[in-house]
Amino acid sequence: MTKLTPYSCIRNTWYVAGMSADFPKEKLSGHVVCNRPIVMWRTRHGDVVAYDDRCAHKRFPLSKGRLMADGTLECAYHGLRYDMTGKCVMIPSHPTGPISPQAKVQPFPVIEQDGMVWIWPGDPAKSHLRKPPSLPEVGDDKWESIIVGPYDVPANYLLLIENLLDITHFYPLHDGNIGDIANSRIPVELEEGEEDGNKYAMTIRKVTSYKQPPYLIDWFHYDVVDRHHTHCMMSPAITRVVMRNARPGKLKPRKAKTEFPGELLNNLDERGYVLVHTHTPVNDKRHIWRVIVNCPAHHKSKGDSDMSAAGRVAAMFPKVADEDRWALEQQQHMFEYADEGYQEVFLKPDIAIRRTRKIFLDMLREEQQPQSPISEAAE
Ligand code: FES
Ligand SMILES: [Fe+2]
Repeated sequence: MTKLTPYSCIRNTWYVAGMSADFPKEKLSGHVVCNRPIVMWRTRHGDVVAYDDRCAHKRFPLSKGRLMADGTLECAYHGLRYDMTGKCVMIPSHPTGPISPQAKVQPFPVIEQDGMVWIWPGDPAKSHLRKPPSLPEVGDDKWESIIVGPYDVPANYLLLIENLLDITHFYPLHDGNIGDIANSRIPVELEEGEEDGNKYAMTIRKVTSYKQPPYLIDWFHYDVVDRHHTHCMMSPAITRVVMRNARPGKLKPRKAKTEFPGELLNNLDERGYVLVHTHTPVNDKRHIWRVIVNCPAHHKSKGDSDMSAAGRVAAMFPKVADEDRWALEQQQHMFEYADEGYQEVFLKPDIAIRRTRKIFLDMLREEQQPQSPISEAAE
């Protein structure tokens, strides 16, 4: 029996299939999420529909077909037509005969929330037991949200999550842009919990009278700050990073996780960002990564007073993302070899990575035992 590792696609969770704007009305698109080919489109009534992209006849990709005037999807090969539930409703070569109930494709649950389209590639009967993590800052007028990516990354998605939870890689990987060795030495606190049926693991770094590196002065003005910086794996789909900076003595105390970013809007002394990273596995060796940079809409940067804070942060990101993608790809290659005496070392700042791997393993075990119910917490 092969040993279960956390580097497998978790299916019983909500992933981001794209931003709402990526789904204009009546345009078919083909996706692969957790090794499942999926055709998606927004109907003329505004709902997003998703089902298996393989035609029930001969597996031709339905995303290469077309939508008909009556709202059905016609396969481009032999012309079978499907309704919005994935049921075949017309077969051109049998115009009058009965249609077998087996002529259907599997639908997938879809939710639209916070300006994003979410898909559940797992057991549809369990989709109500978890909700997509709440990300109110995305697409809210009080925030400026800029999307960087999406990037097609040739590496397992958990490698990206581990990268995001561990900022000690800023030096040396990001040396020359966001590299800051002092950052790596800030003590790490861990917070764990469950929200909307999703177990989360979060690191918290708090500093007082901290001398900011040049790029943070450029983005957020203050030379010396009190600062709270958190990195939270909210679900297998989302890692959210929140940074709040204020002059010494002016930072509001940290509240519950969900209230945290609100302080950036409510406390006039605070500046910072909310970075929402979406990581959607294509398969065990590839994922789609996008970064949504969110800053209060009225915040300007210091480095270029004509530029918003969000714009200035987002401008830096493609270079940083290139460096991260390079590292993840290198790591992925090394997974091709058997362990054979290799042993991984955990350092203190890796605490959230360890917790995340445990959460992933528990979720994967849960999927392998279909009788055991998912936590009912979301109900
Ligand atoms: S493969 Fe789709 S109709 Fe034949
Ligand atoms: Fe990085």
